[in-house]
Amino acid sequence: MLEVNVTGKFFGDQKILGACKLKLKPAERISILGPSGVGKSTLLRIISGLDTNFEGVVKCPEKLAFMFQGPNLLAWRTCYQNLLIFHPEVSQTGATQMLEQVGLGDKGFFYPDQLSLGQQRRLALARTFLSPADIILLDEPFTSLDPKLKLEMLTLTRTLLDQSKSTLVHVTHDISESEYLMSNAVELKGNPATLHHQASDE
Ligand SMILES: Nc1ncnc2c1ncn2[C@@H]1O[C@H](COP(=O)(O)OP(=O)(O)O)[C@@H](O)[C@H]1O
Ligand SMILES: [Mg+2]
Repeated sequence: MLEVNVTGKFFGDQKILGACKLKLKPAERISILGPSGVGKSTLLRIISGLDTNFEGVVKCPEKLAFMFQGPNLLAWRTCYQNLLIFHPEVSQTGATQMLEQVGLGDKGFFYPDQLSLGQQRRLALARTFLSPADIILLDEPFTSLDPKLKLEMLTLTRTLLDQSKSTLVHVTHDISESEYLMSNAVELKGNPATLHHQASDE
């Protein structure tokens, strides 16, 4: 399903990533753990195909969803439009059901700046899970939320993951998040940073 064999990633003459090997089966979940600046986002961008300037090979399913650290919503679009512009194949009914699931059932025609921070985060989560993806990439989307909001987001994310059966690669510096999401924790460490993980039955 996902096969990552990165041998090097440089920014200028600085080597950020060394050998990063990762093999995941369908529906497997991992959390890549490491301190700020170690190279987590860099590795996730490589996995997603956003960054192609690296040494090595990545085989990643085309149907992927990427959730960034910030909500990255389109301010001039309503909640419905924020969902449907990225998922033109989804019906209005499908979007309504997803908005209901994340607690925004009555906010479809609101704009992002009419939502609280927690509601904006839930809209970003809805966008991530709206149509089935083979793999979901989460780049610290729960960072800097207050504890109550963070727990609410983690619980919702776990429910949506259980429903979607998607493979998960989640990046964080907080191991408790991997426990909530029932994912295997894998450490990205060193300078340059390295990582090794095989599919669970290999
Ligand atoms: N576009 C870039 N140009 C130069 N250096 C970068 C760039 N993006 C990230 N870096 C550097 O690469 C290292 C890893 O960054 P990043 O992957 O964002 O870390 P993390 O997500 O683990 O906090 C950091 O030292 C950062 O400064
Ligand atoms: Mg990062």
